[in-house]
Amino acid sequence: MPSLLTTSRFAADLRAELARRRRAIGRTWDVFEVAPGEHLLEEALGGVDIAFFPGDFTADPLLTRSFFGAAMRAPNLRWMHLPNAGTDAPIFARLLERGVRLTTSSGASAAPIAQSAIGGMLALARGMTQWWDAQRRHAWEPTNLRSPPPDLAGQTMVVVGLGAIGREIARLARAIGLRVVGVRRSARSPEDPVDDVRAPAELTALLPETDWLVLACPLTEETIGWIDRDRLSLLPRGAHLINVARGGIVDQAALIEALRLGKLAGAYLDVFEVEPLPPDSPLWELPNVVVSPHDSSPSAGNVGRQSAIFFRNLERLERGEPLENEVHRTAGSS
Ligand SMILES: NC(=O)c1ccc[n+]([C@@H]2O[C@H](COP(=O)([O-])OP(=O)(O)OC[C@H]3O[C@@H](n4cnc5c(N)ncnc54)[C@H](OP(=O)(O)O)[C@@H]3O)[C@@H](O)[C@H]2O)c1
Repeated sequence: MPSLLTTSRFAADLRAELARRRRAIGRTWDVFEVAPGEHLLEEALGGVDIAFFPGDFTADPLLTRSFFGAAMRAPNLRWMHLPNAGTDAPIFARLLERGVRLTTSSGASAAPIAQSAIGGMLALARGMTQWWDAQRRHAWEPTNLRSPPPDLAGQTMVVVGLGAIGREIARLARAIGLRVVGVRRSARSPEDPVDDVRAPAELTALLPETDWLVLACPLTEETIGWIDRDRLSLLPRGAHLINVARGGIVDQAALIEALRLGKLAGAYLDVFEVEPLPPDSPLWELPNVVVSPHDSSPSAGNVGRQSAIFFRNLERLERGEPLENEVHRTAGSS
C-alpha cells in the first residue's frame, strides 16, 4: 500500500482527515511517522510515495533533519508538500532533480507575516521603539513636538514581490493611507490591491521616491544581492526597509552602514544573511532596527491552512490535475 510520510506530531490529525476524505480521494494510505532524531529503516521507506511536513521547519531542527533524511532515502517518493513558501534551501533543488514534485503552502501564513511587517512599520513610524527603550528605563520621554514624525498617510511604499505576502502587506498599507507600488515580473491584474505595478527592471528608478521599501519576493538568481549599496543609496534620507523575504536579497553590510549613518531612518528585519543572527551583529544594537528571529509567521491557524492546501493537492494529484503552488525551479536548481 502507498504510504504518506509525515511527522509524529501531526500523524493522528492527518490520519483522521485522510479517513474522512477517503471517498473523495478514492485511495487509502499507510501513514509513516517520523519523530525527532528517529532514523526510519529503508524497508519502511520503499512504500512512501507522498510526504507532508506540517508545522514549521525552524521550530524543531532535529525533527526537520529526521524528516528530510527519511524523504531523501525514500526511493519512490513522487510528491512532497511543504509548510513554507520559500524553496531556496539546497535540499529542494536536490528533490526536484530526483523528479519529486514539490508544492508549497504559500498563502497559509501570509496574513500573520503581513501583520508582522505592518507592525514593524508602525513601531518605527510611530516611535514605539523609543517608547519601549524609555519604558525599560522608567523614563517619561515624550516626542519632541518641534520634530514630530511624518504622517504615514501619503507616503509611498514599494512592495517587491506581489504574491500572497506582498499583496496582503499592500492591502493593509493602503488601508492606512499609503500609496503602494508593487514590483513583480507579471502584469497587473484588476484584483491587485496596489496603486501601480512595475517590472523588476524599474525598481532602481522607483527608489528615490520610496519611503518604505518592502521585500516580499523569493530568493533567486535574479534577486540575490539585489538591494546592494548603490540601490540603498538611492533611497531618500528618512526611508525605511522592511525585509520579510530572505536576508540574501540585501547587502547586509551596506544596510548596517546606511542605518548607522542615518541615511536610512530604520528597518524591520525578520530575515538575515546568516541565521541565527550572530550575537555580535551590530543589527541587535541599532536603535532604529526592529529584529525578529525569522519569526514573523507563527499563528495558530497556519497548520490548518497548510493542511487544507495539502488535501486539495492530494485530490488533484489523484485526478491528474495541476497542483496548487507547484514549484518548478528553485534558487539552487539549474
Ligand atoms: N519571513 C518568513 O517567515 C517567510 C515566510 C514565508 C515566505 N517568506 C519569503 O517570502 C517570499 C514570498 O512569499 P509568498 O508566499 O508571497 O510567495 P508567492 O506567493 O510565491 O509570491 C512571490 C512573488 O514574488 C514575485 N517575484 C518573483 N520573482 C521576482 C523578481 N525577480 N522580482 C520581483 N518579484 C518577483 C512573484 O511574481 P512574478 O512571478 O510575477 O514575478 C510573486 O508575486 C518567499 O519566497 C519566501 O522566501 C518568508
